[in-house]
Amino acid sequence: MPRRHLVTSALPYANGPLHLGHIAGAYLPADIYVRYLRRKYGHEHVLHVCGSDEHGAAISMKAIKEGKQPQEIVDTYHAINQKAFKDFGIDFDIYHRTSSELHKETSQAFFLKLYEKGVFEKVTSEQMYDPEAKQFLADRFIMGTCPNCQSDRAYGDQCENCGKALSPTDLINPKSTLSGAAPELKETWHFYLPMGKHSEWIEAFIRDGRLNGEPHHDPSRWRRQVIGQCLSWIEGGLGDRAMTRDLDWGVPVPLEGADGKVMYVWLDAPIGYISATKQWAIDQDNPEVWKKWWQDDDTDLVHFIGKDNIVFHCIIFPILLKTHGEYNLPVNVPANEFLNLEGDKISTSRNHAVWLHEYLEDFPERKDELRYVLTSIAPETKDSEFTWKDYQARVNNELVAILGNFINRVVVLTNKYYGGVIPFESLDPAIEDQFNKSMDAIEAGLGTFKFREALAEAMNLARFGNKYLADNEPWKLQKTDPEAVRKIMFNALNIAAYLADAFEAFLPDTSIKMREMLGIDRVFKGFLDGHEIGPAQLLFTKVEDEVIEAQLEKLNQAKMSNQSAPEARPFKDNIDFEQFMQLDLRVGTITNAEKVKKADKLLQLTVDLGSEVRTIVSGIAQHYQPEDIIGKQVSVVCNLEPRKIRGVQSKGMVLMAEDAEGKLVFVNPDAPFENGAEIR
Ligand code: MF3
Ligand code: ZN
Repeated sequence: MPRRHLVTSALPYANGPLHLGHIAGAYLPADIYVRYLRRKYGHEHVLHVCGSDEHGAAISMKAIKEGKQPQEIVDTYHAINQKAFKDFGIDFDIYHRTSSELHKETSQAFFLKLYEKGVFEKVTSEQMYDPEAKQFLADRFIMGTCPNCQSDRAYGDQCENCGKALSPTDLINPKSTLSGAAPELKETWHFYLPMGKHSEWIEAFIRDGRLNGEPHHDPSRWRRQVIGQCLSWIEGGLGDRAMTRDLDWGVPVPLEGADGKVMYVWLDAPIGYISATKQWAIDQDNPEVWKKWWQDDDTDLVHFIGKDNIVFHCIIFPILLKTHGEYNLPVNVPANEFLNLEGDKISTSRNHAVWLHEYLEDFPERKDELRYVLTSIAPETKDSEFTWKDYQARVNNELVAILGNFINRVVVLTNKYYGGVIPFESLDPAIEDQFNKSMDAIEAGLGTFKFREALAEAMNLARFGNKYLADNEPWKLQKTDPEAVRKIMFNALNIAAYLADAFEAFLPDTSIKMREMLGIDRVFKGFLDGHEIGPAQLLFTKVEDEVIEAQLEKLNQAKMSNQSAPEARPFKDNIDFEQFMQLDLRVGTITNAEKVKKADKLLQLTVDLGSEVRTIVSGIAQHYQPEDIIGKQVSVVCNLEPRKIRGVQSKGMVLMAEDAEGKLVFVNPDAPFENGAEIR
């Protein structure tokens, strides 16, 4: 009996659409792996579950900001994402959701079991609370001024300007991003998971693949960076993590006296894999069968995720599964690194992304092209980058010029020379060898999560076919030596049929089309007769320059429109007129500018303020070249207490406007004006 394989793909948050980073990160490699397993072990031995992650503070926040109910938000994006996955052909057995009743029951039962086993510790502490929105605030829902760099857009967990890790109490003038109110400290209690208690066995699990003193999996098959990230967490000391939240959106904590408390989203979401499997079993009219997939020894559990999910799948969820006692732990977690886009990080908030549903609208006939490109550049060992030019090059130079060209030639020539009937000859053993070698290499790659390498092997087999035809030039021999041509064409037809196998996991639609053209069954065992093949259909077409330019333009437009609508920042508290009049603001002209040594953000400016010339140090070096700003008029705060910055006495501050991305521009009079003129 082959083993059973349970494959999970990270449940995407239902608060936004899917982009290519998601697809390359988890769903496409999972789909390829599942297709490989199904072919090798049979459909019924493989189960692929996924669904929407519909809880968490980010979703309740979005609901508050948009004046909607969280359920409305997740209903919208669950539908969009489910459809996008379906249209793209990702092979899930079920796409479930964590706002379902079944999920609530499943995660509450799981929670209770852990609670009864005494896994959690109840701890009371003071937490940030928004007195206007009447709710506790997650760290990143608090914004204020960074104590380190004075940026006024620091979050309660980190300042994105200088990168310093912060806690909400570090912020100067903290504000709730929900209401703008100043947060207060308020006492509350939560259940914590003391992870430190588990660090010894978790380390053995990750480092040596051992569980309960027995071999569990082969750690040499795990990606190095996955093990590395886990070990560095473990070595840094596993702390206590709160497993509950004071929120009204989530799975309620199923205990008396826990009103208003829900399970932490990272506790309920992975349990979503289990509830998805239960729903699938119910849909099969076999409601108990889910247990086999989660509890039987002969099932292998594999989680496909992006690297930001590693700790949850390799440390926290395994702790929960093991302490629960009835569940299998993963045998591998092939996490991918990140995919960048056109030289920049993909960002939902900055709208710098290629959205899957938009790709499918723009290119309804080019699903396999996207699968091909994303697998060729899969961020398996390090971050990688998608660019439209590279997409075009890979489609045109590889899919069209090599695979498509070869198949097309074989089918066209067979139709032309033999009226479409395969010239039945004996197969050259060298060709069979080549195929077996290629197929072994492809399978070895697929079985060890090296999808990029496996795909390259498949393309090499297509190159081999192309070269075989080019070297043998049947079109030159047909007149003089038709017997030789029959043999060449029979060999070429076999390569073509093998290619349908080789590409099956990667390019499923193409593989089907190839088999249709060649008139063969799913698994090719060599041509047994001289049957008739179908007409030639084009597998791929060239991507033209205009198409690529249009996509680049679209990305640019999205960026621009995003700039004009910066993330709304709460306004500061009112001041009175006297306080305003205390500011001495004036027009000045920059008469000299130079870089401050060893400070890549700072420029030292000389500013003429009419009655005085001053030195002002300004953090604009990444936005302006010194030589470009000499002669510019600016607005200056003249009575700011002088400060020494990098050894230079700075007297005043030049006013800058700053957008949501941190880009700075001068604020200056709209016509040349007298230096020293007051600004009011
Ligand atoms: N929603 C999470 C994310 O997008 C992934 C959740 S995976 C699961 O990062 F384990 F929680 F299901
Ligand atoms: Zn900072």
